[in-house]
Amino acid sequence: MAKRILVAGSSNIDFLLSTPYIPAPGETIISNGSYAFAPGGKGANAAVACASLGAEVVFCSRVGDDAYGDRLVALFNERGIDTRYIKVDRVEQTGLAVVMLEKNGTNRIIVYSGANKKINDSDVESAFSCYPDAVLTQFEIKPDAVIAAALCAAEDGIPLFVDAGPATPDFPLEKLEKIEVLSPNETETEILTGIRPNTLENCLRASIALCNRVDTKYVVLKLGARGCYIYDGKYCDLVSPFEVPVVDTTAAGDIFTAALTTEYLKNGDILAAARFANAAGALATTKTGAISSVPTIEEINKLLLGE
Ligand code: RIB
Repeated sequence: MAKRILVAGSSNIDFLLSTPYIPAPGETIISNGSYAFAPGGKGANAAVACASLGAEVVFCSRVGDDAYGDRLVALFNERGIDTRYIKVDRVEQTGLAVVMLEKNGTNRIIVYSGANKKINDSDVESAFSCYPDAVLTQFEIKPDAVIAAALCAAEDGIPLFVDAGPATPDFPLEKLEKIEVLSPNETETEILTGIRPNTLENCLRASIALCNRVDTKYVVLKLGARGCYIYDGKYCDLVSPFEVPVVDTTAAGDIFTAALTTEYLKNGDILAAARFANAAGALATTKTGAISSVPTIEEINKLLLGE
């Protein structure tokens, strides 16, 4: 039976703009690429990815009372996501992310939180009345809401999956109750620990530093083109990446953690889940956009089988 995952997180409209390079201060450049407004937000990307990969998803979020908010909620409904716990905020606009995409697939993102900053602990607490099997959250909402998700998960005795993006040095990681999987990318790892996970030794040092700050069963470091690194407090593993033609890395990390969560919940096999997530994250980089780059199970299985 499909697991019910409560995703507590942000919803944004992404303004995607391709650019040959990032302009210097005072410089104006012409992009001869394209632009688009498309659904995104770390919470929304994760919710759609979990649903596409077969989970039953309940999404706790907020959007503004505007056309973008309507568009996002309509999309979540189309994807079979339970939207009962998405509030329409009458004051704040729907969150907006400006995503600048360079030719080599690298992105830089600036987020205007809008309605997302109003997601609070009671929004999250009420969403627990859906009796989830697991919770997945990220740091694009206020720490209080993330802490509430952790507290409720601990009270209900269900696993908590935390995508540590976007990280800030002052995020109160210590306040999170027991985590099943904590998954930061390279930048987030460095922000949270002061250690850049650029070598295996540094991956281990950073993972130990994270385990010293928070009670987590697994740390899974997302290393981009180097795959991912798993640490369980005793043993570590580097899980190899899949080589694919990279077009746009936007949301690859969100999709990685969603795939890891969905697959891990099947039987608790972290290595198999990490391999599945590596494939999902890699496929996400082969298409532009956030939600538009969520792969299907068939695409993931094909890549896993080397077809
Ligand atoms: O991780 C990618 C996401 O970050 C984008 O969809 C954007 O909305 C920002 O939240």
